[in-house]
Amino acid sequence: MSEYSDKKNEEFSPVHTNKVGGSPYTGVIGWIDNRLPIFRIFKHEYLDFQVPKTLNYFWSFGGILMICLIFLIITGLALGMHYKPSADEAFDSVEKIMRDVNFGWLIRYAHMNLASFFFIAVYLHIFRSLYYGSYKEPRQLMWLLGITIFFLMIATAFLGYTLPWGQMSYWGATVITNLFSAIPIVGEGIVTWLWGDYSVGDAALNRFYVLHWLIAFLIVGIVVFHVIALHIVGSNNPSGIEPKDTRDTVSFSPFTTSKDLVGMLVFILIFVAVMMFAPNYLGHPDNYIPANPMVTPAHIVPEWYFLPFYAILRAIPDKLMGVIAMVSSIAILGLLPWLDFSKVRSSVFRPIWKQCVFLFVLDFFLLMYVGAMPAEGIYLVLGRIGTIYWFAFFIILAPLVSMYEKPLPMPQSINEYMDWKKKGKIKTFNFTG
Ligand code: HEM
Repeated sequence: MSEYSDKKNEEFSPVHTNKVGGSPYTGVIGWIDNRLPIFRIFKHEYLDFQVPKTLNYFWSFGGILMICLIFLIITGLALGMHYKPSADEAFDSVEKIMRDVNFGWLIRYAHMNLASFFFIAVYLHIFRSLYYGSYKEPRQLMWLLGITIFFLMIATAFLGYTLPWGQMSYWGATVITNLFSAIPIVGEGIVTWLWGDYSVGDAALNRFYVLHWLIAFLIVGIVVFHVIALHIVGSNNPSGIEPKDTRDTVSFSPFTTSKDLVGMLVFILIFVAVMMFAPNYLGHPDNYIPANPMVTPAHIVPEWYFLPFYAILRAIPDKLMGVIAMVSSIAILGLLPWLDFSKVRSSVFRPIWKQCVFLFVLDFFLLMYVGAMPAEGIYLVLGRIGTIYWFAFFIILAPLVSMYEKPLPMPQSINEYMDWKKKGKIKTFNFTG
């Protein structure tokens, strides 16, 4: 006899394993949507989705990043069809793409410059989040997912740069992989394991190629989580005030979509101008010299977007501590939602924190400049000052300012914020809409 046989029907809980139905659509779309709810998700999360009506052009960079990512993958796919990941053939295969493959030059220049523009967009996206306090409750997880994406972007850009197998590819790969040797005891072993050999060579290039692809797709996966989280918590906005009713919001489509489109077009215009007129401006000429293990370039410099972190690495005299400082300079961003505990989100109402954020952005550019210079004399001093401010911003200024700053008077709602702005009671950047 079954163990359930003496129970009555009412004692069993109903289950709903079959969820067919519930679509607002009819016809073929309704039929599909009843079984795979993509159309109602699109309606709910895009057509009807409400966003604060104060969003300025800085909020277009999330969409711009998505476009960059999509085109990086498309151009990467085309490059991958002609590229050869071997130490003997890699350099020549890239030259073949440039000269012999139909529109190969365009595809390669697009991919190369998109990588740079991806970083331009991500830095603006991060600075926006810092200025308007987008990392604060309830968006901490979005912020943490963003930092994870940023680490993966760094990894994939570094790996991609090794692939053309020019002098900077080779020596950059050697310097950066050698950083692991700073780890006590197991460091040297890790480096040999990473290389799959006793120096950077064929085995390393092959795995760099595989990982470059893999991490690009990992980024896509985490961006999906990033956007799902965004749709749970909703967008922050320049006022830092949560929307209360429809006076505070507009629907994402067509209002934000059309505004984002303008931002995207301007971004694409600048990108195309650089790609067409100065495609190698953001790169290093030495990477057009085939990799030569016997000749070290005079200055090994990373791509421009890594320079601030390279400056932090070199500001510390000890190799291991330098590596730790470099990695923590990014990881520490993850603690910001807890180090900055001010109840006010947007810097528009935080007169002191606003200055700290401006200085932080200036510090980023100072470190970028220092990273491109030789690590000696005044550059070393500037690098150290920049590094101290970088860490002080998080560890000292964020909690201290949260404790002692007196925020400016704040409106009750986004609608009132716009009213105050119109009356000139609030000073913000006007060019950003
Ligand atoms: C591939 C890279 C990325 C993509 C495609 C992406 C995409 C997006 C999109 C579409 C939005 C909504 C629109 C907007 O607010 O701009 C957004 C918001 C946000 N992102 Fe990203 N993101 C990326 C990287 C990052 C990084 C590296 C960080 C931080 C370290 C970050 C932090 C945030 C935060 C905090 C928000 C909420 C902003 C707000 O509501 O004010 N994202 N992201």
